[in-house]
Amino acid sequence: MSAVIYPTTNLTATEQLKFERGEGVYVYDNNGKQYLEGLAGLWCTGLGYGNKELIDTISDQLGTLSFAHNFGGKTHQPAMDLADKLAAMVPVENAKVFFGNSGSDANDSHIKMLRYYFNAIGKPEKRKIITRESAYHGVTVAAGALTSLPASLAHFDAPVDALGILRTDSPHYYRGVQGDECAADFGTRLANNLEQLILREGPDTIAAFIAEPITGASGVIVPPPGYYEKIQEVLNRYDIMFWADEVITAFGRTGNLFGCETMNIQKPALMTFAKQLSSAYFPISASVISGDMYEPMVEASNEVGVFGHGFTYSGHPVGCAAALKTLEIYERDGLYDNARDVGAYMQLKLSMLARFEQIGEIRGEGLLGAIELVEDRASRTPAVNLAKRVTKACEDNGLIVRNVAGNTIAMCPPLIITQDQIDEMVDKLTLSLEQCL
Ligand SMILES: Cc1ncc(COP(=O)(O)O)c(C=O)c1O
Repeated sequence: MSAVIYPTTNLTATEQLKFERGEGVYVYDNNGKQYLEGLAGLWCTGLGYGNKELIDTISDQLGTLSFAHNFGGKTHQPAMDLADKLAAMVPVENAKVFFGNSGSDANDSHIKMLRYYFNAIGKPEKRKIITRESAYHGVTVAAGALTSLPASLAHFDAPVDALGILRTDSPHYYRGVQGDECAADFGTRLANNLEQLILREGPDTIAAFIAEPITGASGVIVPPPGYYEKIQEVLNRYDIMFWADEVITAFGRTGNLFGCETMNIQKPALMTFAKQLSSAYFPISASVISGDMYEPMVEASNEVGVFGHGFTYSGHPVGCAAALKTLEIYERDGLYDNARDVGAYMQLKLSMLARFEQIGEIRGEGLLGAIELVEDRASRTPAVNLAKRVTKACEDNGLIVRNVAGNTIAMCPPLIITQDQIDEMVDKLTLSLEQCL
């Protein structure tokens, strides 16, 4: 046993599977066994493995300027180009971009920038953040407090109250429906609950509402049509910012450039990016804010003497070069279109699994999908052990998927996947279901 403390692992059962190399949508273990990477690593390797062009770019950047920071206004072309590129892509007005290393620290940076901004405009009490049940926003001390997964909170004493973090309903109709309520009424009820929460707490105390347009680690929850429209109406009424955590859903994943587009989220004030931004070839994240939010921060920093936030690796030139090249390849090779078209095919193939009685719900958008396993359809009792067994059977059959939220199996293959490889993925999943049921 090595000295590694394994993240998000039962520490009594470490070192299950050792990978040695990857190529395209496949990875290989230390015995040479091939697996189709049905979760793009951790929802991140958009270009799959071994992309020579991206590797060459990274290698060239290492050779040219292996490190430079952005403190004190020092700069370099890759950081400037990437910030401008992202600013031109996002639906955020006059966007400004702060770089970090991970989705978690990007969300922490947002919390700090929200405070900085509201202090700067003389509203220091407007600082609470509304998150949702079934949310995953990372694991650092602050982002971890925005996350709602029980295992991410247990024993860590996250500073939920100290940070003013409030929780509202999960947008999962299948699990949250009351009686014979239709999906539209469910959305209305959740928007009403959100409004009640805002009124109870005081609108002047709430800065932002954070949401993954479609969730990932909490079970690939796709809110019903109309939900976000109603939520945005409430937020607009009380001048509360919409903060889109697009760490998983950005860059084609849900069949459009951003998850906001797929879910009809208009003009978010803040957006978080990581993972597919560099296809995970180098760690990099981006916290995007609007120009309106940035301007008062400029003045406040002048009073203090410096905007006192930044990581050694903020705007790392190798990460920025990797992200620029990744975005170039996504666009040039039509991978957003591929995600939409092959994604629609994946959803169709997954929908055919409805013949298995123990699949309670099949959901997803684009190249993001999930099946939720239940003891029986009437009771909807979560079949947690079955989900574990199916996930393991998939692995034995040469397919990596991820068991999330207890009884759900998630799929999120690289954006380069072909229709034939989707057939292979769903065939292996089907075989695994047949073996376990
Ligand atoms: C929506 C979302 N936000 C934030 C994070 C945290 O990102 P990281 O693991 O890079 O810190 C994740 C990670 O899965 C995520 O899915």
